[in-house]
Amino acid sequence: MLVARGSPEIGSGCPARRRIMYQAAVFIHLASAIVWIGGSLFLALVLIPVLRRYAPAPGEPPVLPPDMLGTMARRFRWISWVCIVLLVATGLYILPTRYGIGFGDFFSLGGHFVATLQVKVALVAVVIWLSAMHDFVIGPYTNRMIEAMQAGAEPPGYLPLLRRSVVWIARINVLLTILVVVVAVTMTRGTPV
Ligand code: HEM
Repeated sequence: MLVARGSPEIGSGCPARRRIMYQAAVFIHLASAIVWIGGSLFLALVLIPVLRRYAPAPGEPPVLPPDMLGTMARRFRWISWVCIVLLVATGLYILPTRYGIGFGDFFSLGGHFVATLQVKVALVAVVIWLSAMHDFVIGPYTNRMIEAMQAGAEPPGYLPLLRRSVVWIARINVLLTILVVVVAVTMTRGTPV
């Protein structure tokens, strides 16, 4: 059973307590999306372009501490994974509490809300997979290659391609998370046309 939007009854049990829990979950859901997407955009649009401006010319000493971007990116990495966990956990809490959608309903042909939810969850799965590849597989591997090269090792021919892939995975991921927000708004508020 789907509970109508704006209804004072949110699921079963004590309505007041449920409402508080539901609103707290929505707050955490939205705050996590803000921190995650805002942080990713800050890295991509502010930090990386500014740090690039301070990259030393060949033969010149570095102006900034070495691996400054890496240190910041690693610090943001655990923040973004906390956000991902909170988004999934609160999303899964809201579905049965507010909308009466259980595991079985998710796989049904249940109209606009369920259809957009399915698209949203599929996109979230892709984003999580790309984030994991970026943060735990390709990113660290590329870093090790760069460190080895800086220590004097011969860089493999595919290193430039690897570096470009890391950058593009991050860019595509930011765009996909923004798309998740668009789908989320369409899910709860309907399509604009
Ligand atoms: C498996 C993961 C997720 C599930 C199950 C889920 C589920 C939900 C649900 C049920 C709502 C409706 C909340 C309400 O009652 O107002 C919602 C709203 C929303 N979600 Fe998610 N969500 C997930 C992941 C995400 C992610 C990763 C993002 C952002 C990157 C996101 C962004 C939003 C936004 C912005 C809204 C507000 C839409 C609006 O009020 O118009 N969600 N989500």
